[in-house]
Amino acid sequence: MSVFFLKSLLGIGILVSAVVAVFTMLEIFGRSEKKYDIEKLKKIHRANGILYFILFLFISYFCIEYIIKTKMEPSARALFHSLSAVVIVILLALKVSIVRVYRQFYNQVKIIGFLIALISFAMFAASGGYYLLITKFGSDKAFMEAVSLKKEPVKETVKIVLKTDPQSIGKGKELYESKCYFCHDAYSNKREVGPGHKGILKNPLLPVSKKPATPENAANQIRNPYKDMPSFSYLLDEDVENIVAFLNTL
Ligand code: HEC
Repeated sequence: MSVFFLKSLLGIGILVSAVVAVFTMLEIFGRSEKKYDIEKLKKIHRANGILYFILFLFISYFCIEYIIKTKMEPSARALFHSLSAVVIVILLALKVSIVRVYRQFYNQVKIIGFLIALISFAMFAASGGYYLLITKFGSDKAFMEAVSLKKEPVKETVKIVLKTDPQSIGKGKELYESKCYFCHDAYSNKREVGPGHKGILKNPLLPVSKKPATPENAANQIRNPYKDMPSFSYLLDEDVENIVAFLNTL
């Protein structure tokens, strides 16, 4: 299961929890003639709040790890998503401190609760909801197509010069860390989304296509990828050569 799928499922957990929170709140404050046992409802509301926060922490951990790992500039959607998360944390802290300490503001707690639920929905829609939609509920193949930068694959094979100078290798490493690192582990053969790259050009064959492990075939994989990898056909020849120079050191 991809981490994105897992994260989206946890996101659904957050939504359910938000609905439970609003429902219990409405029952506690909203009815003139109480239907359920108020003490019980309060307990459910509190336990549910804790569950919400645990899910929230889990998901934040994924997100922060992803940002650190990919070093990606956030998209507008990701920015909206993370800002919503920050606002939710602030509102939650405010709500808990009003309930526990600043009781004079108690009436505002309900509005804050509604706001938290509302922003939770927006936050989910911008990430988990979006992801589940574009992947047709988590099939990774659709995700690959969705993240793919491939338009028309460039068909000619790529001819390259294998560089070994430290400057090219350094540039290649930087590019690798921003474009490839998310799906590949450079220093092991563990499979992430794609195969690990340790010894990629030292072994006789490439791991998936079983083509000879030559610099040309590695460069070709970047431009006209075999199977499910997105194409990086927009990279300059020089960038591709630098990435291959780095792959050659692994
Ligand atoms: C979105 C995920 C993703 C990204 C980003 C990605 N790859 Fe891949 N890569 C894959 C997958 C998946 C495969 C295995 C192909 C398959 O199973 O369909 C693969 C396979 C490979 C292979 C082995 C090909 C073979 O013939 O066996 C190489 C080499 C490779 N990738 C290099 C790169 C480089 C270099 C970059 C960065 C410029 C990169 N990949 C970025 C997903 C990715």
